[in-house]
Amino acid sequence: MTLLIPIFLALIAIYILSFYQKFLNYQRLKHYASKIPGPPLEYIMGNTYLFRNKTSDEFILMFKEEARKARERGETVIRFLLPGKMIVWPLNGKAVSQIVESTTEIYKGSDYSMFEPWIGGLLLLTGDIWKSHRKMITPTFHFAKLEGYFNVFNSESKVPKGGLPHITTEFQILTSCLSKFADSNETVDIFPYINRCLLDIICETAMGTKVNAQFNHDHPYLKAVKGYAAMMVYRFAKFLVQYSSQPIMWNPILFWALGYKKQQDDYLRILKKFTSDTALIRTNYKPPKSKLIRTRGDVNKLNYLELAMKESKRLFPPVPVFQRHLQKDMVIDGHTIPAGANITIAPVVLHDNHLVYSNPELFDPDRFLPEETAKRHSYDFIPFSAGIKNCIGQKFAVLNEKVLISHLIRSFKIEPMLKFRETRPCFEVVSKPSRGIPVKLTKRC
Ligand code: HEM
Repeated sequence: MTLLIPIFLALIAIYILSFYQKFLNYQRLKHYASKIPGPPLEYIMGNTYLFRNKTSDEFILMFKEEARKARERGETVIRFLLPGKMIVWPLNGKAVSQIVESTTEIYKGSDYSMFEPWIGGLLLLTGDIWKSHRKMITPTFHFAKLEGYFNVFNSESKVPKGGLPHITTEFQILTSCLSKFADSNETVDIFPYINRCLLDIICETAMGTKVNAQFNHDHPYLKAVKGYAAMMVYRFAKFLVQYSSQPIMWNPILFWALGYKKQQDDYLRILKKFTSDTALIRTNYKPPKSKLIRTRGDVNKLNYLELAMKESKRLFPPVPVFQRHLQKDMVIDGHTIPAGANITIAPVVLHDNHLVYSNPELFDPDRFLPEETAKRHSYDFIPFSAGIKNCIGQKFAVLNEKVLISHLIRSFKIEPMLKFRETRPCFEVVSKPSRGIPVKLTKRC
């Protein structure tokens, strides 16, 4: 018992010291925060008031509005201060270039921590390990391999010859799944259908295994992906609630005590088992030989589709924000951003820059005609990030989208059931339309 008292006192001392260290760090951040442009600060809670009682799509609107006001004042960065952390958002391509071009500031922001157990991999690595992993994975997305993936994209999205009732293949094909809604003239939210189709494609091409999510909505991997993502969203939402001064729920002990931790770990076990099982298959996997190279040639000619896809990613960037955690002080446009701050690179805000894109709310693919693109900084449009940590799968993603969209448009006339602004991007693991994508489909022939 007498031995326990010094241990207990030592633990309290360590706790107080670490708290004091955090307090000093925060004081330092606060000192810099008062010099960087941003919304007015409250004494203790900083900019917490901006986060109160907002849904995730309202967060995006709030960030856009604060960025718009800052740009009107001629500013190129904006900061938000929350208890314990400072987040700085560059507001145009030039300001972003400093961070994305840095070869040393490649540490991911502190808000990635909750994603780590699942998608830690390349996304969160740094230093030499990141370099070697990136080098190892890059060949998977080599141009020549994309040719081989073509048949997978096609088989996942094409209506088979002979009509829809004859589908006996192990894949349920996206257009086939959607056809029954065309037959019955029912409105369908196509978002989950496209999601499942993309999951099938990524599992077959990147992992070399078939999940058949389009057929089997109850596949354990699919359920674990959904479940784990929902848990992350839950925790993140509670994290924001904490910053809105409501009862503090974003707390690892409560998360564990309420049983969420166990549930999350169960999902994680399924995900990891699936990944390690498929890694074995993957070693021997060769993508199917493409007989559709000529088709591929056609895909390269879909110039207007390419403009429309870029404009869609401008307005609805699939990855709305990502972050770096500064290791050293960095000067951006004359403002010193201190080490320890998070820099948020936010396509969703950068792409809304009214000084670069006139009427930024308007959908206008012509903004991406070469002569228009030449007028902007190349980082004013960065849906796939930029610099040495850019998206490794971007060519794969674009090719995949083109094939899928071509099949959908060839098969159906698609009539949206919501006006353009009635479904808005909201934060999830990747962005998600707040009210889905409800459409009516009519078969073309
Ligand atoms: C429209 C689809 C996609 C978009 C908009 C997108 C966007 C992004 C963005 C913004 C990043 C940077 C994240 C950060 O720095 O925190 C990133 C990184 C990454 N993406 Fe994608 N991505 C897409 C599809 C894909 C696909 C299909 C794959 C693989 C099959 C992929 C693999 C990766 C990897 C491995 C990284 C980490 C790269 C590194 O840190 O070195 N992405 N992506």
